[in-house]
Amino acid sequence: MKEPIVRLEIRGPVGLITLNRPEALNALSTELMDALTDALRKCENDPAIGCMVLTGQGRAFAAGADIKEMANKTYAEAYSENFITRNWEEATRCRKPVIAAVNGLALGGGCELAMMCDFILCADTARFGQPEVKVGVMPGAGGTQRLSRSIGKSKAMEMCLTGRMMSADEAERCGLVSRVLPADELIDEAVRVATQIAELSRPMIMMTKEAVDRSFEVPLSEGVRFERRLAHTTFALEDHKEGAAAFAEKRKPNFHHR
Ligand code: CAA
Repeated sequence: MKEPIVRLEIRGPVGLITLNRPEALNALSTELMDALTDALRKCENDPAIGCMVLTGQGRAFAAGADIKEMANKTYAEAYSENFITRNWEEATRCRKPVIAAVNGLALGGGCELAMMCDFILCADTARFGQPEVKVGVMPGAGGTQRLSRSIGKSKAMEMCLTGRMMSADEAERCGLVSRVLPADELIDEAVRVATQIAELSRPMIMMTKEAVDRSFEVPLSEGVRFERRLAHTTFALEDHKEGAAAFAEKRKPNFHHR
């Protein structure tokens, strides 16, 4: 039987999604991106899942948009099909957290996909880059915007203009990734962290994620106001009372996600 191009495994309260086109370094073809969108939606709609992990099979997380598929695409087609917007940005629409576990090369659209996730854990063998200019295109899935917000103008500009790759250590130093792990521990650790998140109060996690995301969209005073309103709202949650009661009673909280 043919292997699915995107694998979805349920590990307790975690949806582990693996891009599974290793023979093409998980190049992000239409078929693959449709399958990824489906997998993310499935997890988002499954009440038993509280957090997702996205990784790649083989030596790449993803080596970018499928250059061969893009080769003959016309402007009219790219525009009419709503290329990228149509089926690349599902991770940004998930209200549950999505962790990128970058196992190897994350280039072009692959780096952009990782940056659409909520945070990035990576293997010590991972490498990041926006090499689009080398193949006569430019980043088109948010690379110029998310990379500069993540690592600052100078490094983002250098990466985008030269297409050079960055090591895992450099990526951690400049804040692109939250942590670097030995390659053989990456998935277990990502699933462990995701499980930890999934076991917390789901509405609290979703509101916290929404508040952090808001910081990239609005001025500080508006962001703080937004956070305050959400924080006040949490007083209405049962989990808010359970968290405080468990703390006072020196026991583990038993959240019911409401
Ligand atoms: N699209 C389509 N196929 C790709 C691919 C891509 N982005 N990246 C790798 N592949 C394929 C190769 O064509 C090759 O297939 P064949 O065996 O059929 O020839 C297979 O994957 C293995 O790749 P290589 O033989 O090239 O492996 P390598 O180790 O010699 O080189 C690499 C690795 C440096 C990553 C090289 O594959 C490469 O440069 N890939 C392209 C990276 C790139 O430019 N990404 C940006 C794409 S544009 C984009 O993403 C736009 C956007 O922002 C949305």
